[in-house]
Amino acid sequence: MSRLIVVSNRVPIPDEKGAAPAGGLAVALQSALAARGGLWLGWSGESRADDAIGPLKMLRDGNIDYALTDLTERDVEEYYQGFANRVLWPICHYRLDLAEYGRREMAGYFRVNRFFASRLLPLIADDDLIWVHDYHLIPLAAELRRQGVKNRIGFFLHIPWPAPDVFMAMPVHEEILSSLTAYDVLGFQTEHDRENFADCLARQGTGMRSGPGRFSVGDRTFTAKSYPIGIETEEFATLAQRAAETSLHKRMLQSLDGKGLIIGVDRLDYSKGITQRIDAFESFLKRNPDSQRNVTLLQITPKSRSEVPEYEAMQRAVAEQAGRVNGAVGTVDWVPIRYINRSLRRPALAGLYRMAKLALVTPLRDGMNLVAKEFVAAQNEIDPGVLLLSRFAGAAQELQEAVLVNPYDVEGTADAMARSLAMPVEERRDRWRAMMKTLRANDVFTWCDTFLHDLTTDQSERPTRWVD
Ligand code: G6P
Repeated sequence: MSRLIVVSNRVPIPDEKGAAPAGGLAVALQSALAARGGLWLGWSGESRADDAIGPLKMLRDGNIDYALTDLTERDVEEYYQGFANRVLWPICHYRLDLAEYGRREMAGYFRVNRFFASRLLPLIADDDLIWVHDYHLIPLAAELRRQGVKNRIGFFLHIPWPAPDVFMAMPVHEEILSSLTAYDVLGFQTEHDRENFADCLARQGTGMRSGPGRFSVGDRTFTAKSYPIGIETEEFATLAQRAAETSLHKRMLQSLDGKGLIIGVDRLDYSKGITQRIDAFESFLKRNPDSQRNVTLLQITPKSRSEVPEYEAMQRAVAEQAGRVNGAVGTVDWVPIRYINRSLRRPALAGLYRMAKLALVTPLRDGMNLVAKEFVAAQNEIDPGVLLLSRFAGAAQELQEAVLVNPYDVEGTADAMARSLAMPVEERRDRWRAMMKTLRANDVFTWCDTFLHDLTTDQSERPTRWVD
């Protein structure tokens, strides 16, 4: 079996593993890689002055070798905070209004990708499989090819791929699209994302479709398919069962004092629809006065990308909004929203999911959303809670038995909360069983095996017709 090299910007640094790493990429990849073993190269999270970048920091944990690189302060500003998180992230989440395009940031993005390639190059052996992850590193394969790398290289995009009109508003969209053709396999979260990508190729007029999921551009032929990412379904279910024994679980139950727990868990990000969700919760409380004092919304929201201005503004907005709702609706002995900005350890999170009657997973746009999947896996099959899920999360393609909502429709979401809390236990069980079956059939190990199977197998055929 070839060695697997995974490359991603964010890496869960081994000695910090107790706390849940922020974001689905790190969680999912860690599970997949721990099972198979391999090398994981990424950013150490440290930024230094230009002349203070040292050699790679090498660590080993279980059967994963980590190779971590520092970046310069300028790199972090231009590549991570700049192009990746102020251009690609908003564009891929349909927020053209928030995209702040600048040539300096764009140049920094390509420069740092060249730097990642130079760090990886000495570590690559001839038959290694290389798997690059997410929007930070789109041009990495093109840089590696330029330096003579012939290995099979795959790319998985954890976030949505937008419709052509949105994508093409980005000034460097041609370079971004053409650099993807250096990969052998491109993976998207959903069929919808893959179709958007194929439509972009077609609009650019350079691609040929050479069979199901196969494309040719110039002299390159590659596979582009959807591989919906999963979770460690059985392991997470076990974690949730065991959590009932923990002291946090007991304290939480005691503090709820019989009130129903509603839970939301998201990085503090404008794509997550947190302000619309709080509006919907307030509307639900006002339209259902009987529910007042009987439920509590626990919103767990670790801060994220705080140096990026849009995130800084959002931190203030959500804190003010939660405070306003608590002030307007709360009473001396009832706080409607418990709002916390810390990330919890995974066993604690699993226990809270199991305790909750309802989870609110209502992003305005999301690649997949693994919170939705973990919530389902954590439920007690006798008395499962309800998943209220945005139609615009990739997870909604698979979890059709969730209560699906349009998060822009605040009153509709409020009504769905009321329906979910009143749902008879038989219906809750039927929906849960169907969703659990899906999660068991496509867990994170299947996702990893399916992608790597395609990456290992040479699927070349001759192109036959233009992309339509
Ligand atoms: C999303 C992205 C990941 C990213 C994570 C956390 O899940 O798909 O690539 O790592 O958010 O964001 P951060 O900027 O803290 O790495």
